[in-house]
Amino acid sequence: MNEKQGFKSSIGFILASAGSAIGLGAIWKFPYIAGQYGGGAFLLEFILFTILIGLPLLITEFAIGHLGKTYSTTIFSKLSHQKFTNFIGFWGNFAAFILYAFYSVIGGWIVIFFGYYLLIATKITEQNMNFFDMMIQNPLLSLTGQFLFIMITGLIVSFGVEKGIERASKIMMPLLFILFIIIVVRALTLDGAMEGVKYFLIPRFEDLSFKGTLYAMGQSFFALSLGTTGMITYAAYSQKDTDIVSSSSWIVFMNLAISILAGLAIFPAASAFNIEATAGPGLLFIVLPKLFNAMAFGLVFYIMFLLLFLFAALTSSISLLELNLSNVIKNDASKRKTYAWLLSIIVFIVGIPANLSFGLLSHVQFGAGTIFDNMDFFVTNIFMPIGVLITTLFAGYIMHKQQLLHAFRKKYGFTHIWYYLIKFILPIVIIIVFITQLYAV
Ligand code: PFF
Repeated sequence: MNEKQGFKSSIGFILASAGSAIGLGAIWKFPYIAGQYGGGAFLLEFILFTILIGLPLLITEFAIGHLGKTYSTTIFSKLSHQKFTNFIGFWGNFAAFILYAFYSVIGGWIVIFFGYYLLIATKITEQNMNFFDMMIQNPLLSLTGQFLFIMITGLIVSFGVEKGIERASKIMMPLLFILFIIIVVRALTLDGAMEGVKYFLIPRFEDLSFKGTLYAMGQSFFALSLGTTGMITYAAYSQKDTDIVSSSSWIVFMNLAISILAGLAIFPAASAFNIEATAGPGLLFIVLPKLFNAMAFGLVFYIMFLLLFLFAALTSSISLLELNLSNVIKNDASKRKTYAWLLSIIVFIVGIPANLSFGLLSHVQFGAGTIFDNMDFFVTNIFMPIGVLITTLFAGYIMHKQQLLHAFRKKYGFTHIWYYLIKFILPIVIIIVFITQLYAV
């Protein structure tokens, strides 16, 4: 990979990959999926999957990117000298493309909400709280939001990795954490908050289901951007001295922290305001205006929150577009701008039916639900886990152990345990979760 295209510093790489990880997955998706699949029991499974499978897998994807230093549809054969292994890269690219198509729908909601509360609403009122229902059913509005979200992503990516991504993260990410802590404190002090806290934190094992387990595993991959070659792509841009183990640990820790903070904001507030935790994809958008309304300077804080939330979503969509783009332009920087726009337009077109799933096409229901639900289900619960599975099989059985160990800057005592995990345990766990889920339906 051309050095000029890469990250200048190892902190730049950590921030960008943390930016890829932390996004709609932790903030928007985690609370609503946890709400639908058992609250505390889901949280427990999610934490276990994230630490026991997500972390070793993130280290593996970083190792592959760091050693291979090229785009993800050739990196596998470059490392293994076996051409067929490149299908792993194509698989991940396809998953990322579809993911981006439905991800941008929610990104668009944030854009519209941000514009609305910044420019139109002067207070958070009951009427403004109903804005969400109106917006998702209005194709002009929601498609405009999605289009803008994709175009902002395209604009940033067209400038290139280092200039586009590295700078803003250094300010926005810490701000997001601080604001979340403020929101959580307010949520926990609402009357009736305890019920939500209990729902979220106390596992009720009777709520465990095979389906919930598949969702928890899928969510842990989604939130860490695994199985799409996204993290491989960023690691390919990293500097030689990058410590992939400490980077991965930080990212996993931050991602868990934001997911838990999001849960601690949404569930207590939902119970205090009598909103069902099972409300689905709109959960955050319905609960938060009420929560901010109960805060001093609520509107100002809400606008700030929406801005930071948008930023978090953008740093993830940037990585989605970047990973596809890097495979299309194959190191030819002169093609970057044209293809960034072209890909953006195609993604928008593919994303239209996902967008309309909340309005005009809401009656189209099959498999996992609406068109949006099906795109999400297939990517998160099928494509990403299989992506993760074939990546671990590649690292464990096609690469040589010594070759992999070169990715580590220092000698760590646990590398043997890590290797054992990715070679034997992880593939078995993923296969078992799949098979039990098949029998469950
Ligand atoms: N991890 C991102 C999120 O949780 O919002 C989503 C994502 C980004 C998944 C990039 C995959 C990816 F390659």
